[in-house]
Amino acid sequence: MAYATFQPEKQGKNLRQTLSREFDHFMGGLMAILKIAKMGNEILKQVAEPVVDIAAENIAALAKDMKETLEDIGGNGLAAPQVHVSKRVVVYRITENQIPAGAQMRPLDWRVLVNPVVEPLTEEQNPIWERCLSVPGLHGEVPRFTKIQLRATELDGSEINITASGFHAMLLQHECDHLDGILYPMRMTDMSTLAFNSELGEKGFLIPRDSKEFSD
Ligand code: NI
Repeated sequence: MAYATFQPEKQGKNLRQTLSREFDHFMGGLMAILKIAKMGNEILKQVAEPVVDIAAENIAALAKDMKETLEDIGGNGLAAPQVHVSKRVVVYRITENQIPAGAQMRPLDWRVLVNPVVEPLTEEQNPIWERCLSVPGLHGEVPRFTKIQLRATELDGSEINITASGFHAMLLQHECDHLDGILYPMRMTDMSTLAFNSELGEKGFLIPRDSKEFSD
Protein backbone atom coordinates (compact mmCIF):
# COMPACT_ATOMS: atom_id res chain seq x y z
CA MET A 1 0.00 0.00 0.00
CA ALA A 2 2.95 2.24 0.47
CA TYR A 3 3.08 3.17 -3.18
CA ALA A 4 -0.61 4.10 -3.04
CA THR A 5 0.15 6.98 -0.68
CA PHE A 6 3.16 8.08 -2.66
CA GLN A 7 2.10 10.99 -4.80
CA PRO A 8 5.12 12.04 -6.81
CA GLU A 9 3.43 15.19 -8.15
CA LYS A 10 2.38 16.38 -4.73
CA GLN A 11 5.69 15.52 -3.08
CA GLY A 12 7.62 17.10 -5.90
CA LYS A 13 5.62 20.28 -5.47
CA ASN A 14 6.15 20.29 -1.70
CA LEU A 15 9.87 19.80 -2.17
CA ARG A 16 10.01 22.63 -4.68
CA GLN A 17 8.09 24.87 -2.28
CA THR A 18 10.40 23.99 0.60
CA LEU A 19 13.52 24.57 -1.48
CA SER A 20 12.14 27.81 -2.84
CA ARG A 21 11.31 29.02 0.68
CA GLU A 22 14.78 28.06 1.92
CA PHE A 23 16.36 29.82 -1.06
CA ASP A 24 14.35 33.01 -0.46
CA HIS A 25 15.34 32.91 3.20
CA PHE A 26 18.99 32.41 2.28
CA MET A 27 18.90 35.18 -0.32
CA GLY A 28 17.07 37.48 2.08
CA GLY A 29 20.08 37.42 4.34
CA LEU A 30 22.48 38.38 1.57
CA MET A 31 23.37 41.78 0.21
CA ALA A 32 22.17 42.23 -3.33
CA ILE A 33 23.97 44.81 -5.41
CA LEU A 34 22.03 45.31 -8.61
CA LYS A 35 23.47 46.26 -11.96
CA ILE A 36 22.70 49.82 -13.03
CA ALA A 37 21.31 50.46 -16.52
CA LYS A 38 23.12 53.32 -18.25
CA MET A 39 21.89 55.96 -20.67
CA GLY A 40 21.16 54.30 -24.00
CA ASN A 41 19.69 51.16 -22.43
CA GLU A 42 16.19 50.53 -23.78
CA ILE A 43 14.69 49.99 -20.32
CA LEU A 44 15.47 53.60 -19.38
CA LYS A 45 13.41 54.84 -22.34
CA GLN A 46 10.26 52.92 -21.42
CA VAL A 47 7.27 54.12 -19.45
CA ALA A 48 7.36 51.80 -16.43
CA GLU A 49 4.38 49.63 -15.49
CA PRO A 50 2.27 50.58 -12.47
CA VAL A 51 2.48 48.19 -9.52
CA VAL A 52 -0.86 46.41 -9.15
CA ASP A 53 -0.17 44.18 -6.14
CA ILE A 54 2.72 45.15 -3.83
CA ALA A 55 2.87 41.75 -2.09
CA ALA A 56 2.40 39.55 -5.14
CA GLU A 57 5.01 41.46 -7.12
CA ASN A 58 7.44 41.24 -4.19
CA ILE A 59 8.11 44.98 -4.20
CA ALA A 60 9.55 44.77 -0.67
CA ALA A 61 12.39 42.55 -1.89
CA LEU A 62 13.00 44.82 -4.88
CA ALA A 63 13.09 47.90 -2.63
CA LYS A 64 15.51 46.19 -0.24
CA ASP A 65 17.89 45.37 -3.09
CA MET A 66 17.58 48.90 -4.46
CA LYS A 67 18.46 50.39 -1.06
CA GLU A 68 21.45 48.08 -0.70
CA THR A 69 22.59 49.04 -4.18
CA LEU A 70 22.37 52.74 -3.30
CA GLU A 71 24.17 52.19 0.00
CA ASP A 72 26.95 50.49 -1.93
CA ILE A 73 27.30 53.04 -4.74
CA GLY A 74 26.36 56.10 -2.72
CA GLY A 75 23.53 58.27 -3.92
CA ASN A 76 20.19 59.65 -2.86
CA GLY A 77 17.66 57.98 -5.05
CA LEU A 78 17.07 55.12 -7.42
CA ALA A 79 14.17 54.22 -9.68
CA ALA A 80 13.39 50.59 -10.55
CA PRO A 81 14.06 50.97 -14.32
CA GLN A 82 17.65 51.87 -13.37
CA VAL A 83 18.02 48.32 -12.05
CA HIS A 84 16.35 46.79 -15.12
CA VAL A 85 12.89 46.48 -13.57
CA SER A 86 10.25 48.39 -15.50
CA LYS A 87 7.95 49.14 -12.55
CA ARG A 88 6.88 52.38 -10.92
CA VAL A 89 8.99 52.11 -7.77
CA VAL A 90 11.43 54.66 -6.31
CA VAL A 91 13.61 54.50 -3.20
CA TYR A 92 15.32 57.57 -1.81
CA ARG A 93 16.81 59.18 1.24
CA ILE A 94 18.67 62.39 2.02
CA THR A 95 21.84 61.86 3.99
CA GLU A 96 23.45 64.35 6.30
CA ASN A 97 26.48 64.85 4.04
CA GLN A 98 24.20 66.09 1.24
CA ILE A 99 22.90 68.94 3.37
CA PRO A 100 25.10 72.04 3.42
CA ALA A 101 25.92 73.78 6.67
CA GLY A 102 23.33 76.33 7.69
CA ALA A 103 20.46 74.57 5.89
CA GLN A 104 17.07 74.16 7.57
CA MET A 105 16.54 70.60 6.45
CA ARG A 106 17.10 67.47 8.52
CA PRO A 107 18.31 64.22 6.92
CA LEU A 108 15.53 62.01 5.59
CA ASP A 109 15.42 58.28 6.27
CA TRP A 110 14.65 55.81 3.49
CA ARG A 111 11.34 56.10 1.73
CA VAL A 112 9.89 53.63 -0.74
CA LEU A 113 7.44 55.16 -3.19
CA VAL A 114 5.14 52.90 -5.19
CA ASN A 115 3.28 54.43 -8.14
CA PRO A 116 4.34 57.99 -7.24
CA VAL A 117 2.65 60.96 -8.89
CA VAL A 118 4.28 64.41 -8.86
CA GLU A 119 2.26 67.59 -9.04
CA PRO A 120 3.94 71.02 -9.19
CA LEU A 121 2.69 73.46 -6.56
CA THR A 122 4.18 76.45 -8.33
CA GLU A 123 4.96 77.52 -11.86
CA GLU A 124 8.40 78.67 -10.76
CA GLN A 125 11.32 76.60 -12.02
CA ASN A 126 14.94 77.02 -10.96
CA PRO A 127 18.04 75.46 -12.48
CA ILE A 128 19.60 72.95 -10.08
CA TRP A 129 22.63 70.66 -10.37
CA GLU A 130 21.86 67.03 -10.97
CA ARG A 131 23.74 63.80 -11.33
CA CYS A 132 22.46 60.35 -12.15
CA LEU A 133 23.82 56.83 -11.65
CA SER A 134 22.63 56.04 -15.18
CA VAL A 135 24.68 58.94 -16.57
CA PRO A 136 27.94 58.33 -14.71
CA GLY A 137 30.67 60.90 -14.42
CA LEU A 138 28.55 63.86 -15.50
CA HIS A 139 26.45 66.61 -13.99
CA GLY A 140 24.32 69.37 -15.41
CA GLU A 141 21.84 72.08 -14.51
CA VAL A 142 18.19 71.19 -14.93
CA PRO A 143 15.20 73.50 -14.53
CA ARG A 144 12.91 71.99 -11.89
CA PHE A 145 9.74 73.09 -10.15
CA THR A 146 10.77 74.61 -6.84
CA LYS A 147 7.80 73.19 -4.93
CA ILE A 148 5.88 69.99 -5.56
CA GLN A 149 3.41 67.61 -4.03
CA LEU A 150 3.92 63.88 -4.37
CA ARG A 151 1.37 61.17 -3.75
CA ALA A 152 2.41 57.52 -3.57
CA THR A 153 1.70 54.21 -1.91
CA GLU A 154 4.11 52.84 0.68
CA LEU A 155 5.15 49.20 1.04
CA ASP A 156 2.48 48.55 3.69
CA GLY A 157 -0.19 49.82 1.33
CA SER A 158 -0.72 53.15 3.07
CA GLU A 159 -0.91 56.37 1.11
CA ILE A 160 1.80 58.98 1.54
CA ASN A 161 1.51 62.65 0.67
CA ILE A 162 4.75 64.62 0.54
CA THR A 163 5.25 68.33 0.02
CA ALA A 164 8.81 69.11 -1.02
CA SER A 165 10.81 72.10 -2.14
CA GLY A 166 14.29 72.86 -3.44
CA PHE A 167 16.70 69.92 -3.49
CA HIS A 168 14.09 67.49 -2.16
CA ALA A 169 11.62 68.55 -4.88
CA MET A 170 14.31 68.17 -7.54
CA LEU A 171 15.22 64.70 -6.31
CA LEU A 172 11.61 63.52 -6.50
CA GLN A 173 11.12 65.03 -9.97
CA HIS A 174 14.36 63.39 -11.14
CA GLU A 175 13.42 59.92 -9.79
CA CYS A 176 9.84 60.05 -11.04
CA ASP A 177 11.07 61.12 -14.49
CA HIS A 178 12.90 57.77 -14.66
CA LEU A 179 9.49 56.06 -14.49
CA ASP A 180 8.46 57.89 -17.66
CA GLY A 181 11.64 57.15 -19.59
CA ILE A 182 13.17 60.60 -19.02
CA LEU A 183 16.81 61.20 -18.02
CA TYR A 184 17.90 64.59 -16.72
CA PRO A 185 19.86 65.61 -19.86
CA MET A 186 16.51 65.45 -21.71
CA ARG A 187 15.22 68.20 -19.38
CA MET A 188 18.25 70.48 -19.71
CA THR A 189 17.82 73.84 -21.40
CA ASP A 190 21.43 75.03 -21.10
CA MET A 191 23.64 72.25 -22.44
CA SER A 192 26.75 74.32 -21.70
CA THR A 193 26.32 73.29 -18.05
CA LEU A 194 26.68 69.57 -18.88
CA ALA A 195 30.15 68.68 -17.61
CA PHE A 196 32.37 65.88 -16.38
CA ASN A 197 32.64 65.73 -12.59
CA SER A 198 36.38 65.10 -12.97
CA GLU A 199 36.80 68.58 -14.48
CA LEU A 200 35.68 70.07 -11.16
CA GLY A 201 38.53 68.34 -9.34
CA GLU A 202 37.72 67.61 -5.70
CA LYS A 203 34.52 69.61 -5.89
CA GLY A 204 33.19 67.20 -8.51
CA PHE A 205 32.71 64.48 -5.94
CA LEU A 206 30.08 66.44 -4.10
CA ILE A 207 29.03 69.56 -5.93
CA PRO A 208 28.53 72.33 -3.37
CA ARG A 209 24.93 73.38 -3.04
CA ASP A 210 23.20 76.46 -1.76
CA SER A 211 21.81 75.92 1.75
CA LYS A 212 18.67 77.81 0.62
CA GLU A 213 17.80 74.79 -1.56
CA PHE A 214 17.27 72.74 1.59
CA SER A 215 14.18 73.23 3.69
CA ASP A 216 11.74 70.78 5.24
NI1 NI B 1 18.85 59.25 -12.03
